[in-house]
Amino acid sequence: MLFTKKSIEGLQAEAAGESSGLRRTLGALNLTSLGVGAIIGAGIFSITGVAAAQYAGPALVVSFIISAIACGFAGLCYAEFASMLPIAGSAYTYSYATIGEFFAWIIGWDLIIEYLFASSTVAVAWSGYVVSFFEKNLGIHIPAALSGAPYSFDPATGFAATDAVINLPAILIIGIITFMLVRGIKESATFNNVIVLVKVVVILLFIVFGFMYVNPENWVPFIPENTGEFGSYGWSGIFRAAGVIFFAYIGFDAVSTAAQESKNPQRDMPIGILASLAICTVLYIAVSLVLTGIVPYSMLNVPDPIAVAVDAAKLPDGSLALAWLSPLVKIGAIAGLSSVILVMLMGQPRIFFTMSRDGLLPSIFSKVHTTYRTPIVSTIITGATAMVIAGFFPINVLSELVSIGTLLAFVLVCTAVLILRRTHPHIERPFKTPLVPFVPIGGIVVCLSQMIPLPLATWERLIAWLAVGMLIYFFYGVKHSKVNEGRTWAPLGTVRIMVGVLSVVFLSYVMWAHFLK
Ligand code: ALA
Repeated sequence: MLFTKKSIEGLQAEAAGESSGLRRTLGALNLTSLGVGAIIGAGIFSITGVAAAQYAGPALVVSFIISAIACGFAGLCYAEFASMLPIAGSAYTYSYATIGEFFAWIIGWDLIIEYLFASSTVAVAWSGYVVSFFEKNLGIHIPAALSGAPYSFDPATGFAATDAVINLPAILIIGIITFMLVRGIKESATFNNVIVLVKVVVILLFIVFGFMYVNPENWVPFIPENTGEFGSYGWSGIFRAAGVIFFAYIGFDAVSTAAQESKNPQRDMPIGILASLAICTVLYIAVSLVLTGIVPYSMLNVPDPIAVAVDAAKLPDGSLALAWLSPLVKIGAIAGLSSVILVMLMGQPRIFFTMSRDGLLPSIFSKVHTTYRTPIVSTIITGATAMVIAGFFPINVLSELVSIGTLLAFVLVCTAVLILRRTHPHIERPFKTPLVPFVPIGGIVVCLSQMIPLPLATWERLIAWLAVGMLIYFFYGVKHSKVNEGRTWAPLGTVRIMVGVLSVVFLSYVMWAHFLK
C-alpha cells in the first residue's frame, strides 16, 4: 500500500480538467514574475554579506555560480515534471506518480518546511528592514521588545532568552498577505508584478551605478587564503558560501504550484521556472561582483550589505556618491521581501489542497471559496501558522531548516525524473530535461553535497519534522487515502506501534536536547 502510485494518465486528465475549481488566469509572463518574486529576497538582500565576509571573500561570485548550477539541474528536472504533470501539488504529485504514496506524503510534508517556514523566515527579515527604515529614514522608533523573537539560538551554546517578546511586524505582513491571497490569485499576481518590477529596478540601479564606484583593488586577492579552518576562505570557503547563499535561489520551484491556475501549463511552466532562475542568476552574479568591488569584503558582515555598499561609494571630496540610492535600496528590499512571502504563502495552500483531494489530509483543506475561487481554508491555516512561527522563532534557525528541506525536495525531484524515464519512457513530455541521466544525477550529487555540511541540529529538526509527518500518515492518511480506498493492510497495527514508539522517543529527545537541556 505504501508504494501505490497514482497513474500518470489519471493525473494528466486531472490536470487538463477544470474540476479543481481554481481559475486559469496566469500566462508565461505572470509565471516568470512569480518565480522572480519568490527568488529575490532575504538571500540577496541580507545573507550575501555574511557569506562574503566570513567564507568566500570576492570569490562570492564563484559561490553564486556553483549554487546556480545545482539549482539549474533541479530546475530542469522540475520543468520536465511541471510540463508533464501540471498539478498544484508540485514535487508531492511527481513522487506520488513515480515512487508511491508514502514517499509522496514525506515529500509533501517536507515541502511545508520549504514554503510555510520560508514565508516566516522572510517575514522576520522583512521586519528587520522595516524597523531599520523607520528608525533611520523616518525617525520612528519601533520598540525592540515588539520586533524580535523571544529567544536566540547559537549552535555552540543553544537557546537563550532575548529582551524581545514577540515579532509584531513579521506577524502583520503575513496577515496582510494572507488576506490578499484569500481574495484572489489574479489580484495577488498583479500585486506581485508591481513589486517584482520595483525590486528588479532597484537591483539594476545598484548594479549600474555601483559599478562606477568599483575599486578593482577590493577584488585582490580574489580567493582569500584559507585560514586553516575548513570553510573559512579558500576553496572550502567558496563551497560553504555556496551552501549558505543557496537560500537566495529558493523559489523558482514555487512556480510549479500555480500549474492549475496557468492558462497553458505545458508550454508556460518550463518558461516560468527556467526564465526566472536564469534572470536571477545573472542579477546575482552582477550584484556579487559590484558588492565586493565597492567595499572590502571584510566590511560586509552585516544584515544589510547592499545598503552598506551603497553608503561606501564616495566622491573624491569624501561625500556620499549614491545617497539617493540608499532609501531606494531599503524600499526595494521591503517590497522585494513581501513578494517572496506572497509566493510562498500562495504555494503552500495549493500543496495542502492537492494532498487533501488525495485523502491524505482532511477534506476541509481542499475547500474552494465560491466567489474568490481560492483554497480559502488552507490559505488561512497556512497564514495563521506562518504568523506564529514568524512571531516567535529566530531567523537563523528558520533559514537553515528551509535550506535543508528544499535541498531534500530537489534530490527527490531529480530522482523521480530518473525513475519515470525508466518506468514510462514513451509518455509525452512537452519539456524534456536534457542530458539524462547526467543532469538529474548531477542535481542529486550537488544538492546532497550542500546538505551534508549543515549543522547536526538542523538535521535533527528535519528528522523531527518528518517524524511528526509519519505519525499523521500512519494514523490518518493511510486510512483515508483515495488511491488505496477499500484496501486493507494487515501489518498496519504493528507498523503503527513501531512508528508511534520511534517517533515519540525521537521527538522527546529533540525537545530535550534543543529546548530543555
Ligand atoms: N530566495 C528567497 C529569498 O532569498 C527565499 O528570500
